[in-house]
Amino acid sequence: MERDIKEVLISEERIKHKIKELAKKITHTYKGKELTIIAITNGSIIFLADLIRHIPIPLLVDVISASSYGSSTESSEIVTILGQIKIDLKNRNVLIIDDIFDTGKTLERIIKKISQFNPKDIKTCVLLEKPDRHKVNIKPDFVCFQIPNEFVVGYGLDYNEKYRNLPYIAVLKEEIINKNKTSI
Ligand code: IMP
Ligand code: MG
Repeated sequence: MERDIKEVLISEERIKHKIKELAKKITHTYKGKELTIIAITNGSIIFLADLIRHIPIPLLVDVISASSYGSSTESSEIVTILGQIKIDLKNRNVLIIDDIFDTGKTLERIIKKISQFNPKDIKTCVLLEKPDRHKVNIKPDFVCFQIPNEFVVGYGLDYNEKYRNLPYIAVLKEEIINKNKTSI
């Protein structure tokens, strides 16, 4: 797996440090309020697990699945939502967690869906943001790292469902992505 990596963009240490910082901000924002976290799987599972262990206030967690990528590195921009939220979100303060804000279409779609349940408030939190790629009018409320417009893997993020278990954020070698493109 490691030989497919061109460059480590964000190290395990930097991620750990930044997650603690972000968790403090989130804790401060939601102190005394009822917090419900909705995580978008599969990409956010590792981020979710590490983040919530640094948020020492009562909270509920549920997950929903969304996919916008087929097997390529370009967003299809058609977002499919799978699964149902089991928690009653009425009057709850909802924090949506995703791995990355790329075009923003996924979060826009999920916000729309969650709004139907009449929560008190909806905010969003992502591990990564590609500011140059935004195609929507919303911005994430909590962000760990802004990155350039490059396709990255690791720490939950995948390429064709692989590399999620890398403990850091990395850029893949061009030949790995090209090899896949020609074999489809
Ligand atoms: P958006 O809807 O364009 O914001 O895309 C969001 C989703 O696309 C994320 O939840 C990821 O699953 C996926 N995605 C976007 N950029 C990357 C990337 O660089 N690596 C891996 N997945 C990505
Ligand atoms: Mg995803």
